[in-house]
Amino acid sequence: MNTRYEPLFTRLTFKCGLELDNRLIMAPMTHFSSLEDGTASEAELAYYARRSCGLGMIITACAYVAPSGKGFYGEPSAADDDMIASLSSIATTLKRHGSKAILQIIHSGRRADPAMVPGGEVVAPSPVAYDRRDRVDSPVPRELSGDEVQQLIQDYGEAVRRAIKAGFDGVELHGANGYLLQQFFSPHSNRRTDAWGGGVQERMSFPLAVVSEVVRVRQQYADRPFVLGYRFSPEEPDTPGITMDDTLSFIDRLAATELDYIHASLGDFWSNPRRGAKGYLERSRLEVIKQRVGERIPVIGVGSIFTADDAMDALATGIDLVALGRVLIMEPDWIDKVKTGKEAELITEIDPALQQDLVIPDGLWHEIMNTPNWFPVKK
Ligand SMILES: Cc1cc2nc3c(=O)[nH]c(=O)nc-3n(C[C@H](O)[C@H](O)[C@H](O)COP(=O)(O)O)c2cc1C
Repeated sequence: MNTRYEPLFTRLTFKCGLELDNRLIMAPMTHFSSLEDGTASEAELAYYARRSCGLGMIITACAYVAPSGKGFYGEPSAADDDMIASLSSIATTLKRHGSKAILQIIHSGRRADPAMVPGGEVVAPSPVAYDRRDRVDSPVPRELSGDEVQQLIQDYGEAVRRAIKAGFDGVELHGANGYLLQQFFSPHSNRRTDAWGGGVQERMSFPLAVVSEVVRVRQQYADRPFVLGYRFSPEEPDTPGITMDDTLSFIDRLAATELDYIHASLGDFWSNPRRGAKGYLERSRLEVIKQRVGERIPVIGVGSIFTADDAMDALATGIDLVALGRVLIMEPDWIDKVKTGKEAELITEIDPALQQDLVIPDGLWHEIMNTPNWFPVKK
């Protein structure tokens, strides 16, 4: 290996005691290829097996914690004890070559797909439709009752119990990208007047209750170091919407819990805050976050990191762990090439002729080929 890249391959130990071999993480990525009931397909396991070598930790595609939270076709389920055997096959595949396996869990809330949830009914903190350009047909969701909110907190805990039983090394709560946990934190989607809504502190109540529950479940069931992480989106474009100031207050609260890491979800590692307190608009969001957090809790950074030099530049900001997303779909041998001094041979675009070679399931392949500007495509 080129000695310049050695810092990428240093170890890190989480608060819970789990040790990673290196700083490189596979970002959670939906693969649209589980079977209809949410069990793992052969194609899904083959896709993971092709990418499981050498990464410090692999975070799975998001898996739903309750049937009402299913957001995509081919989404894995963590919503029933019947899924434990299937989850176990995923964990075993990911861990085969020494990577740690983390299950990402989700409830899609107002972003659930009406065609995939019981009774076609989409639920959310408040009856406010999701109105981003990629989902113009989103229905107005039904507001969750207080009892249903309590039930959902249990559902997250139950999914963690199943992940422990299935042999995962940890769970990441998907609190980013506009899904349920974020919907409670957001002043755009949470208009509640009960204990789960109001000012910024009240809007943290649901995510923090979920964190408390998953910490409790870990204490009760885990007989080995088991990581708990939280992924969040630092800002929303909406007005009202989550600001960097809100996020900095939130991560102060997250850092005071028993979580092992936090993970900022970004498309570009170097993007700057869009609004908020003066003084940090000139620095990247991740630098602002890392400076606020200090050494209280490890931070994962992500977003358009393709080359080994990109990863080094990211690490040089002081960020603790670097997640790679699309590039691991395009280049399953990323780690191997960097470890063996072949970083100049890294492939950073997708060749439309190579689906089979790259072991990409049909569902994911279809999405990649039909979503303009998502992946760099070889001409
Ligand atoms: C195919 C695909 C599926 C994704 N699915 C998820 C997901 O299930 N959960 C999640 O938190 N982020 C998801 N993301 C976002 C990625 O984790 C990551 O933040 C994003 O791709 C930016 O990193 P990159 O530039 O290295 O790809 C997905 C991204 C892609 C490309």
